Amino acid sequence: MRAVQIVDLSGPSSALAQVDIPEPEPSHMLTPGSGVLIDVRAAGVAFPEVLQTRGEYQMKPPLPFVPGTEVAGVVRSAPDGSELSEGDRVAAACLLGGFAEVAVAPDFLTFPLSDGLDFAQGGGLIMNYHTAYFSLKMRGRLAEGETVLVHGGAGGIGTATIQVAKGLGARTIAVVSSDEKEQVARDAGADEVVRSDGPWKDEAKELSGGGVDVLIDPVGGDRFTDSLRSLAEGGRLVVVGFTGGSIPEVRVNRLLLNNTAVVGAGWGAYVMGKPEVNREIGAEVNRLVEDGFVRPIVGGRFPLEQASDALELIDGRGATGKVVLDVQVT
Ligand SMILES: NC(=O)c1ccc[n+]([C@@H]2O[C@H](COP(=O)([O-])OP(=O)(O)OC[C@H]3O[C@@H](n4cnc5c(N)ncnc54)[C@H](OP(=O)(O)O)[C@@H]3O)[C@@H](O)[C@H]2O)c1
Repeated sequence: MRAVQIVDLSGPSSALAQVDIPEPEPSHMLTPGSGVLIDVRAAGVAFPEVLQTRGEYQMKPPLPFVPGTEVAGVVRSAPDGSELSEGDRVAAACLLGGFAEVAVAPDFLTFPLSDGLDFAQGGGLIMNYHTAYFSLKMRGRLAEGETVLVHGGAGGIGTATIQVAKGLGARTIAVVSSDEKEQVARDAGADEVVRSDGPWKDEAKELSGGGVDVLIDPVGGDRFTDSLRSLAEGGRLVVVGFTGGSIPEVRVNRLLLNNTAVVGAGWGAYVMGKPEVNREIGAEVNRLVEDGFVRPIVGGRFPLEQASDALELIDGRGATGKVVLDVQVT
């Protein structure tokens, strides 16, 4: 089968190679001896793959390896006892191996793909939307009628957070860095958009009538203290990622003074061993798809052979929505 491997750790422009390798067996590292084999139509691309080309991601498989955290495609075979069968359209988190014509995923991380979404959208569904639901609801305890602020509002996590928050009955404020990204956040459904190079903290406080209830932060870096200051009393800042580069530190007296909380949200680490939680999140996300709230925004689309262009787009902060590789084109 055709696949793309990471062959060295020289970065996104040079670390990838196109290869012809044997198809995987229906066995996944999380469920040895068992797995769903998927004919891959689209593979999602995200920050972890960029980090993997530099050896900077927590998961460091021996070289060479096929990256690719998530895919959408058609089931070729499913293990005994699975609710899936051959021919089903699915979205799946395979963790590795997605940049290939055939991938294998654990049954508990493979979900039916709604007819309302195409394969490219399906390639952007799991990591961002499951993380968004997990961060907002399970970690941020979001309640209907509350206000959510999200940094990187035009990115993969950002656009997903806007849509899931809307579906959960919240009001949304997106923080973005450019006109183009402002439009993407609005297209995703943001109620308000403010600029990261402007007085976003004061604007957010004003727009929310005193402070936001939940702040989803995939960026971190030096805006963190202003993020804490933009919370309402009882507000929750949910730490999701660090695209801004540096990992912020909290002066905990700020939390005491304003009765606020900083909460970590590591979706992958939490759900990997919890099939029932995965099913719950998958069902909720699919309900939001059916209700019309969730429509992944595909901002960049490349053939498999141009995977390095896709990674460079993300690395250069040029990506909006979800970046996707078209793999098997029918
Ligand atoms: N915790 C979890 O379970 C989990 C799950 C999935 C992903 N993540 C993490 O979440 C983060 C965001 O992922 P994503 O897929 O949303 O990425 P993305 O689509 O590339 O979006 C990230 C956003 O970060 C902003 N940003 C600010 N400073 C930046 C910089 N120096 N370089 C690049 N971007 C910068 C950009 O928005 P502006 O230009 O508008 O500022 C960009 O749109 C990543 O760190 C990823 O690893 C965490």
